[in-house]
Amino acid sequence: NLLHVEKEPVRILVTGAAGQIGYAIVPMIARGVMLGPDQPVILHLLDIEPVAEALNGVKMELTDAAFPLLKGVIATTDPIEACMGVNIAVMVGGFPRKEGMERKDVMSKNVSIYKAQASALEKHAAEDCKVLVIANPANTNALILKEFAPSIPEKNITCLTRLDHNRALGQISERLDVQVSDVKNVIIWGNHSSTQYPDVSHATVHTSRGEKPVRELVSDDKWLNDEFITTVQQRGAAIIEARKQSSALSAASAACDHIRDWVLGTPKGTWVSMGVYSDGSYGIQPGLVYSFPVTCEKGRWSIVQGLMIDEFSRAKMDATEKELVEEKSMAHSCLD
Ligand code: LMR
Repeated sequence: NLLHVEKEPVRILVTGAAGQIGYAIVPMIARGVMLGPDQPVILHLLDIEPVAEALNGVKMELTDAAFPLLKGVIATTDPIEACMGVNIAVMVGGFPRKEGMERKDVMSKNVSIYKAQASALEKHAAEDCKVLVIANPANTNALILKEFAPSIPEKNITCLTRLDHNRALGQISERLDVQVSDVKNVIIWGNHSSTQYPDVSHATVHTSRGEKPVRELVSDDKWLNDEFITTVQQRGAAIIEARKQSSALSAASAACDHIRDWVLGTPKGTWVSMGVYSDGSYGIQPGLVYSFPVTCEKGRWSIVQGLMIDEFSRAKMDATEKELVEEKSMAHSCLD
């Protein structure tokens, strides 16, 4: 096309941008991994005052990398400046759990952070801004953000469980010695925590003899119902133990997958897992941010309907729902 017109840049906010996940995700975004190789981007990088200098260092490296798609970088410690006009918000920033801190202490710190950022986003982000929360407790932080940014449509506020989804694909691929790209339709139900339920009941593998159910190929039910589930549930902790830091490159990559599929659509016949605001599907209490299987089209996700749920799955889906109900009430009590 002789009249090639470059697309308008999309503005992407990354909070906690001076941290490990931030450092891994910004080059991915600037290379087009998140929105495609023909989509120019402007990065809005936010972090807190004590790491302002490191944040500026990231900005310097982005200049030095000379990414053709990168049309600008705003690096700031001011949430209002950071949120101004953003189309996509990747919320990585949060208070990490330190030694001696109770779950409730972390919860109370993060809930206040997400309450404050909700207002900045609500007032200053572009209309129809899509939000992805990564910082833990991710589902509940997303819920608080939703509650304190009532003018952002609830469909636009999500949390990351694609990391768990990808971990499940990886485990199946290793076990069967097949390409990870040939495995699809695992499901992560519920919370991004150790109560999540990685479900392979509907997962398949592409083989030379067509699509085969994972449950048929892995004949060892005990592995599927036990070790596979705990490995995926505990994978975040296993990475922390190995690296002495939480997962960063896989989290960043999963975040790009999440936004890419949400904006550009899921491939035909494939679903992915996203933490989304429950509408009561599969009997999950409305008003929780719960991970479901979703398909995406034209920038909108919808929960895959009509999947058969057996008793084993039901119990696990309910257990992770129960934890989210407790987190929700704990979060509200932190705000009182
Ligand atoms: C992960 O899944 O890697 C993290 O959520 C783990 C953690 O607790 O930070």
